Amino acid sequence: MSKLAIIGGTGLSRIKGLNITKTESLETPFGNPSANFIHGDINNKDIIFLARHGNPHTIQPHKINYLANIWGLKKLGVTDIIAVAAVGGITPQMEPAHIVIPDQIIDYSYGREHTFFSDNLVTVTHIDFTFPYNKTLRDKLIQTATHLKLSISPSATYGCTQGPRLESAAEIKRMEQDGCDLVGMTGMPEAALAKEMGINYAAIAVVVNWAAGKSEGGIIMSEIEIYLEKGMENVYSLLTSFISN
Ligand code: HPA
Repeated sequence: MSKLAIIGGTGLSRIKGLNITKTESLETPFGNPSANFIHGDINNKDIIFLARHGNPHTIQPHKINYLANIWGLKKLGVTDIIAVAAVGGITPQMEPAHIVIPDQIIDYSYGREHTFFSDNLVTVTHIDFTFPYNKTLRDKLIQTATHLKLSISPSATYGCTQGPRLESAAEIKRMEQDGCDLVGMTGMPEAALAKEMGINYAAIAVVVNWAAGKSEGGIIMSEIEIYLEKGMENVYSLLTSFISN
């Protein structure tokens, strides 16, 4: 039996329409997860929700306890994760308020606890990370968006930076040359840890600004808020329909 969890990022600290049945706090060998795990259902489909940045929204991307979050979800029997994340748009079609289902990732973050396979191993362990995002979950998200007539990009490369500062224009130029379409701060090590735990993982990225150097002047935080709100309306529709079917 599959069990779905949603990890909510900036702009998604709760799910509208979720009928909450239980709130659970978990201790893990890696410390505390970002928040309590919220159990509930939407149209009679059970899900677990976790607010990645905590509740209230206070944990910076580099301070998130990704190991505790993923370990906790595994412990609760989760088999599938849909992660929602706000991102900056780098390539021309990645305009603000656009929704994207990434299919590749490049990790520029550093100094984060990033693997379950560090200590007390019986043998050296590697995982295959050729395809970071699960195809079945991605296909279902894309089909759901198509059915809802939502305009989305069905593939993109997500570049994960360390933050919490935004990037310089030169950093974004380099990322574009590397093949990144999007830039965010939380995609890694989350995707890799899910893979290590054998959990299927896919992401919905919401573009909330043009990345540094991709628009006139600097990045204006108040504009991010506007696009976040606009994009999140579509994320809610996509998630509700995805969960219900
Ligand atoms: N850079 C990194 N992370 C982000 C951005 C950005 O421009 N926008 C939203 N998250």
